[in-house]
Amino acid sequence: MPFSYHNPAQALESRRTIDGTGFGKVAIITGCSSGVGLATTQLFLSHQFEVLGVDIAEIDYEKIDPRDQERLHFHRGDLAKEGECDEVVRICVAKFGHKIDVLANVAGIMDAYEAADKITDYEWERILTTNLTVPTRMIRAVLPFMKAKQYGSIINVASKAAVSGAAAGVAYTTSKHGLLGVTKHTAWRFHEEGIRCNAVLPGSIDTNIFSSVGKEHFDEDTFSRLQPIWELHNPAGQKPQTTAGEVASVILFLASDQARGINGVSLPIDRAWGVI
Ligand SMILES: NC(=O)c1ccc[n+]([C@@H]2O[C@H](COP(=O)([O-])OP(=O)(O)OC[C@H]3O[C@@H](n4cnc5c(N)ncnc54)[C@H](O)[C@@H]3O)[C@@H](O)[C@H]2O)c1
Repeated sequence: MPFSYHNPAQALESRRTIDGTGFGKVAIITGCSSGVGLATTQLFLSHQFEVLGVDIAEIDYEKIDPRDQERLHFHRGDLAKEGECDEVVRICVAKFGHKIDVLANVAGIMDAYEAADKITDYEWERILTTNLTVPTRMIRAVLPFMKAKQYGSIINVASKAAVSGAAAGVAYTTSKHGLLGVTKHTAWRFHEEGIRCNAVLPGSIDTNIFSSVGKEHFDEDTFSRLQPIWELHNPAGQKPQTTAGEVASVILFLASDQARGINGVSLPIDRAWGVI
């Protein structure tokens, strides 16, 4: 089957541009098999980055342009597993050498909109580990390489739920609020060492994330109270307007030297939902 981008909208956005953005640069992208992570991987590769992509799910190589496949090294692994984040960085260094220019922490899972009266210990742990502990461990693992080169850009994919109490369940909301704490702390702590750390806050995006919602413990009560807020952004029955490719473009910008003056920001990508 011939190569095709993830979807037609992304194909348009991911037009190949041979510029200097990624020449000689190495990026680690988590969650590279689907949604925003896949679109980011496609876009970075098209800008000539070498990419270490990691995901718990297999990647479909037919979604990667054959001209780029040599610069992609895919590792299948569960980042929530003890030691896996360090292992990813070890594999990256073994493959591409002692430099990591970019870390895009994209992998994430959604909760089932449970409020504090419904969330189980298991679900709290699962969501917080994947959405907050894993990105922090990934940052810890890449920092020695970024510090050694006095250069690096870290982009954390947070959410509108990082700044709102009315966009998701309590576990997802807390994990993304926490991720902004990690972003700001890392930005300030290492700003004199050439390392930047920024977050993007997407509204709803047309991806597979809702397949991670546990239907059996879906909190209908909480969802019905959040629904009017959601529908201001994403009217009922309509697909989200924001594409994974649009989010990937912002991640690429933040990773690039064009954004060298930007450090510690939380940038909404939500068609103005964030102003409410
Ligand atoms: N889709 C949305 O509406 C939306 C909105 C705001 C923020 N986000 C954030 O965007 C990011 C990307 O999500 P998406 O919408 O592209 O979802 P997605 O489900 O399409 O992609 C997420 C990827 O992360 C991988 N992943 C999950 N847990 C993992 C683990 N433990 N180890 C390795 N890989 C793992 C999945 O296998 C999947 O390929 C997430 O951080 C999510 O919270 C999504």
